[in-house]
Amino acid sequence: SANTMWGGRFAAGPDAIMEAINASIGFDQRLARQDIEGSRAHAAMLAAQGILTDTDAEAIRKGLLTVLSEIEAGDFAFSTELEDIHMNVEARLKEIIGEPAGRLHTARSRNDQVATDFRLWVRDQCDAAITAIEAVQRALLAQAKAGADWVMPGFTHLQTAQPVTWGHHMMAYVEMLGRDASRFRDARARMNESPLGAAALAGTSFPIDRHATAEALGFDRPMANSLDAVSDRDFALEFLSASAICAVHLSRFAEELVIWSSAQFRFVAMSDRFSTGSSIMPQKKNPDAAELVRAKIGRILGATVGLFTVMKGLPLAYSKDMQEDKEQVFDAADTLMLALAAIEGMVSDMSANPDALRAAASSGFSTATDLADWLVREAGLPFRDAHHVTGRLVAMAEEQGSDLPDLTLDQMQSVHEAITDDVFSVLGVDNSVGSRTSYGGTAPEQVRQQIERWKDRLG
Ligand code: ARG
Repeated sequence: SANTMWGGRFAAGPDAIMEAINASIGFDQRLARQDIEGSRAHAAMLAAQGILTDTDAEAIRKGLLTVLSEIEAGDFAFSTELEDIHMNVEARLKEIIGEPAGRLHTARSRNDQVATDFRLWVRDQCDAAITAIEAVQRALLAQAKAGADWVMPGFTHLQTAQPVTWGHHMMAYVEMLGRDASRFRDARARMNESPLGAAALAGTSFPIDRHATAEALGFDRPMANSLDAVSDRDFALEFLSASAICAVHLSRFAEELVIWSSAQFRFVAMSDRFSTGSSIMPQKKNPDAAELVRAKIGRILGATVGLFTVMKGLPLAYSKDMQEDKEQVFDAADTLMLALAAIEGMVSDMSANPDALRAAASSGFSTATDLADWLVREAGLPFRDAHHVTGRLVAMAEEQGSDLPDLTLDQMQSVHEAITDDVFSVLGVDNSVGSRTSYGGTAPEQVRQQIERWKDRLG
């Protein structure tokens, strides 16, 4: 039979495949709360403008609340025949209140309705992402505070570079996540305009008040162009892009946790709560949670590329292609929230191993740069010459299977006569990190300042 919402010009109902490809209720039921919120704002505005009677508006208001409580109680029979959340809600409203339900859609289209619902949903997700990011930052801060002066190797190319502090490494991720949170804040501020009242695409001849509905829904203002309002999904693309960047950060940290928890590194022990065992190898304690966080970027970036691809080349205004926006965003949002929660749990639970960190920092000629700097400062060598001299000393130490502090003064002087006993004072890892006091550097005093700044910011 023909559709009750738009079946006037149809003699026959849809093919089963048509219904299957067209229906979005399987996923857009997640917009139920936003849909009903939007409808309530719309109905109240219609009444205030004299477009609906107060009696009808009141019936609609009450009826919508009933529908919402049915949905929230899991007491609602969603129907594929009714295509999407908008028509499911309206059809149920009609069953409950009768004729006035048919007046709710005055001066509105599903095009502005879905754009409104989805903006409200994504706006909430920006807030949720910010809250979850801040929780991870707090966990990292606690780690940084505990180990502000624990020395560990800093790497470039995953080869020992210079000693850094554990706190410094933790705070690097606090900074990255801080930018992630600010990207969600920016995106939220930009998306916070109301499409409602754009109607199908051209606006409406009814004397509606778009400022009133915008305000009722917590938007800063109505969107200024009705064609733009129903046809863009840039807010969803921004959310996905911010999610993808954040997921890249989480992925890099997760990779470090995988490496650090290996028997070869032993920098950290992950808690049992965030590890798994092997069904064959009894000794195994695998960092599965970290590995999965490392992998989740695949889904999130996939969703991002997916929606970019859907939107590319679409003519104005609404096209049904845009119904494909929701699953991508839902999946990316769920995935990001799970990854953030997992990282927060892992970071809160893990214990670093200061002895292993220090031992690793003390190997691999990690203070070679300190030696070169000493030659510049104390012996007046040009840095390039100091670099060369130090390189020869590294080669000498490597040949005898030791590290720089193990060379004798005689050996050092055989490479350059200006070297004195004082050089040994800069070859220790504590001295090395302690000397890097430039703003943002790895010296514990600098790290503690970073921690204080973030404690103030996070409250
Ligand atoms: N389910 C649709 C979507 O998600 C709602 C908008 C339908 N509009 C239309 N003109 N068919 O995009």
